[in-house]
This record gives sequence, structure tokens and C-alpha cells, in this order.
Amino acid sequence: MATVPPVIRPAAAADAARMAEIEQRLFAADAWSRAQVDDELARQTRWYAVADSDGAVMGYAGLYLSPPDADVQTVAVAPEAQGCGLGSRLLTAAVDAAWAAGCTRIFLEVRADNDAALALYDRAGFRRLGRRSRYYRDGTDAVTMRLRRNEPPELGVAHG
Ligand SMILES: CC(C)(COP(=O)(O)OP(=O)(O)OC[C@H]1O[C@@H](n2cnc3c(N)ncnc32)[C@H](O)[C@@H]1OP(=O)(O)O)[C@@H](O)C(=O)NCCC(=O)NCCS
Repeated sequence: MATVPPVIRPAAAADAARMAEIEQRLFAADAWSRAQVDDELARQTRWYAVADSDGAVMGYAGLYLSPPDADVQTVAVAPEAQGCGLGSRLLTAAVDAAWAAGCTRIFLEVRADNDAALALYDRAGFRRLGRRSRYYRDGTDAVTMRLRRNEPPELGVAHG
């Protein structure tokens, strides 16, 4: 990773190419195309931020805002920048943005086999609601999660 500590800033249309490149590297067949990233960034109901390391986008997070609810569209960190706290910082920025937009609940779906993402969301205080069977194209289940504004931490999870 570059030596300059990344800043979290609002995403701009000019970030789409690099975001689509990271999508491809992380999600392969399930990656958003460049056109889908362009479309996401252009929508009024969306909020996107990127982690910018001296002009290089290393990760991003996005929300669908529909107060009082928000949905996490994605959290993604380039492989070479993972494990350094960027995912956490991006998710914190997304949660703050949802509350600032007047939302009181944030929902998400995550692959049941994605241990890194499940741990990230658990640590941020999201609670597991249930599973959606064979939700993803390859037959993997989704775990559904929710964070409520001002929800007390779950015993046994947040005090570890
Ligand atoms: C999930 C993802 C965004 C995490 O980003 P990251 O920058 O590596 O995460 P951080 O360094 O901020 O770590 C935050 C927490 O996530 C969890 N975590 C991160 N990587 C992990 C791993 N490989 N295994 C287990 N837990 C992990 C840990 O709880 C960690 O907290 P800790 O370091 O205090 O234990 C990143 O791995 C990624 O982009 N994965 C591919 C895309 C993806 O699956 N996105 C989520 C679904 S849309």
C-alpha cells in the first residue's frame, strides 16, 4: 500500500473506472460492470465514499438511502490494502452517513461464507437476522443483518 494514509472522501464520477477495476478483482463473475458503477454513482438515492491514498482509490462503500431505512450496497477494499482498517473506516463512514440522512435502520446481505465481511459487520454492531437460502448465483446462502440507531451492544459480542 502507498505510504500516505488514506482519507475517506465522497466518491466522484471520476472514481468509477478504478472502482470497476477493484470490483473485477474482488468479485469476478459477480462484479459490477463499469456501467453499473456509473449508474450507482449517479443515483440520487445512493451515497458512496472512497478510501483515497494520495489520489489512488483503494476501497469504497455504498448505501441505498430510503429513510428511515438504508441498505449497504457494498464495502470493498483492494486486496493489497486489506487488513489495515480501511474496511472498518469505510463502514463507519457509511453508518454515520445513514444516520445523518435521517435513517434509523441499516440492512445488508452478506455471503454466508464471507468470514471477513461477517466479522467486519459483527464488530460494527450489526445483528444477524436470518438467512436467505441459495440467495447467490452459485447457490451460497445470504446472511441478513441489521443495525439500529442507538441500539445497545449485543451481550457477548461487543464486550469481547
Ligand atoms: C470485507 C472487507 C471489506 C474488509 O476490509 P478490510 O479493510 O480488510 O477490513 P479491516 O482491516 O478494516 O478489518 C475490520 C474487521 O474485519 C474483520 N476482518 C477483516 N479481514 C478479515 C479476515 N481476513 N478474516 C476474518 N476477519 C477479518 C476483523 O473483525 C477486522 O477487525 P480486527 O482487525 O480488529 O479483528 C475486505 O476483506 C474486502 O474487500 N473483501 C472483499 C469484498 C467483500 O467481501 N465485501 C463485503 C461484502 S459486499
